[in-house]
Amino acid sequence: MSNDLVIKALHANIEEKEILRGVNLTIRGGTIHAIMGPNGSGKSTLASVIAGHPGYEVASGEIWYKGQNILELDPDERSKLGLFLAFQYPVAVPGVSVANFLRAALNAHRSEEGKDPKETAIPMAQFRKQLREGMQALEMDEGFARRYLNEGFSGGEKKRLEILQMTMLRPTMAVMDETDSGLDIDALRIVAEGVNRLAHPDMGVLVITHYQRLLNYIKPHFVSVMMDGRIVRDAGPELALELEEKGYDWLREELTA
Ligand SMILES: Nc1ncnc2c1ncn2[C@@H]1O[C@H](COP(=O)(O)OP(=O)(O)O)[C@@H](O)[C@H]1O
Ligand SMILES: [Mg+2]
Repeated sequence: MSNDLVIKALHANIEEKEILRGVNLTIRGGTIHAIMGPNGSGKSTLASVIAGHPGYEVASGEIWYKGQNILELDPDERSKLGLFLAFQYPVAVPGVSVANFLRAALNAHRSEEGKDPKETAIPMAQFRKQLREGMQALEMDEGFARRYLNEGFSGGEKKRLEILQMTMLRPTMAVMDETDSGLDIDALRIVAEGVNRLAHPDMGVLVITHYQRLLNYIKPHFVSVMMDGRIVRDAGPELALELEEKGYDWLREELTA
């Protein structure tokens, strides 16, 4: 159970406004956990706080992972601990190729305090092999690795890169906020296949989504619902279907009854 991500009484603000109002949630290691909820309920805010996004002020609460309160760690340290925070990565970096970006990310993970980075760096041949295998698994064209990071990438290509990164970094817990409403069915499939392949039992996943549709491809073990900055229900995958059928108002009414 040491690979659980445990969120305790988390309160967070954006510009003085309280958005997260006491989130309690446990993502068990090696499981796929979906958070659903109406627009504006605070799902993306939660993802950003887990990632250590600077625009969010944590007022109180804790987030425990592998024996550490990650709120005390900077984003790089969180990543090194095995957390994968998809959207934390740069939007577009002129002049940096996909391959170089991935190698830098891997080497940052492998670096050790007091050691020469050259000593811990991944040998070039090994990196190339890993990259080739990862790209083959994702049915990616070889030329993709030479392109500049995110420059002119389609939604589907960005998604592929994200999953490729995950494939190479082998995190133990991934947080994915599927905010992009522009995702076509192909991109959905890529995300889903990647997550399904890498997740259980080696990697836990917190997948945040408005779209029931995504959950037709990713089969969560647990589903939680967020409303007004709190987790209001924890259940199994059947809850996703129930919400699709009945909407959120039904749950809201049940909660106030
Ligand atoms: N950068 C921001 N500045 C001010 N308010 C924000 C910002 N981002 C989000 N909010 C507000 O925080 C609340 C939660 O937003 P968000 O976490 O994006 O919800 P969700 O992802 O569930 O749709 C909303 O009321 C939204 O208007
Ligand atoms: Mg959102």
